[in-house]
Amino acid sequence: MKKMTVPRFKKLKGKRKLVMVTVYDYTFAKLIEACQCIDAVLVGDSLGNVIQGLDTTLPVEVEHIAYHTRAVSRALETPLIVSDMPFMSYYNKDTAAQTAEVLMKSGAHAVKLEGGIEKADIVRFLTQQGIPVMGHIGMTPQSVNMLGGYKIQGKKPELAEYLIKSAKALEEAGAFSIVIETTKKEVAKAITETISIPTIGIGAGKDTDGQVLVLYDMLGMDPDINFTFLKKYANLADTITNALQTYSKEVKEEIFPDDEHSF
Ligand code: KIV
Repeated sequence: MKKMTVPRFKKLKGKRKLVMVTVYDYTFAKLIEACQCIDAVLVGDSLGNVIQGLDTTLPVEVEHIAYHTRAVSRALETPLIVSDMPFMSYYNKDTAAQTAEVLMKSGAHAVKLEGGIEKADIVRFLTQQGIPVMGHIGMTPQSVNMLGGYKIQGKKPELAEYLIKSAKALEEAGAFSIVIETTKKEVAKAITETISIPTIGIGAGKDTDGQVLVLYDMLGMDPDINFTFLKKYANLADTITNALQTYSKEVKEEIFPDDEHSF
């Protein structure tokens, strides 16, 4: 696979589907690099959920994303690295510039921020500084309190209209791509057909230009995570539990370490 860049990512719209996963650490990033099958990774603020065990992404700090961006960037050569701007780290141009500076200096090739038309000025400002920005609309977890929960977006015509207007505004402001999360598939399709930058869906149907999933979720690492839109491509929870049980048994029964694993 050729190294992914922002211009290449944009050009792939309409040619083939784009593939994205989240990643937070060096060892998983090394596997992603080795598979040569992932176009872009997201150091998402979902690390608040899967790494930190939080109920929401609100407490995630810029330094957390920077720390994980530095770790994954040590393993990645090929995919585009996108890092999330955490809650309240881009409420004006100054805070956005400070956050983006930290993340880009930590190894990100682009940043992602949540919000629609109301965030267009921030997107425009960052892109003018040479920082590629991925938008994120639909179910935006940082606004969970405003949205009244993790709900499917785009059901009401006026909200569908707002999402389409937002996508156009973000594109016009210079965003190179937009994530559409937990949104009616018809609305995600309409957005994808309306704008000329790639849309990346998560719970937004098959008609977006690409897909993103949270790595730990799609690998089946937490049996309690079972979203309708989530397909589990492995059952690592069982694999890991079995390995731990076998290890424990072998230590207690003095099977491990044997001669082969001793000096
Ligand atoms: O933080 C994250 O993992 C995300 C994806 C769900 C798109 O924003």
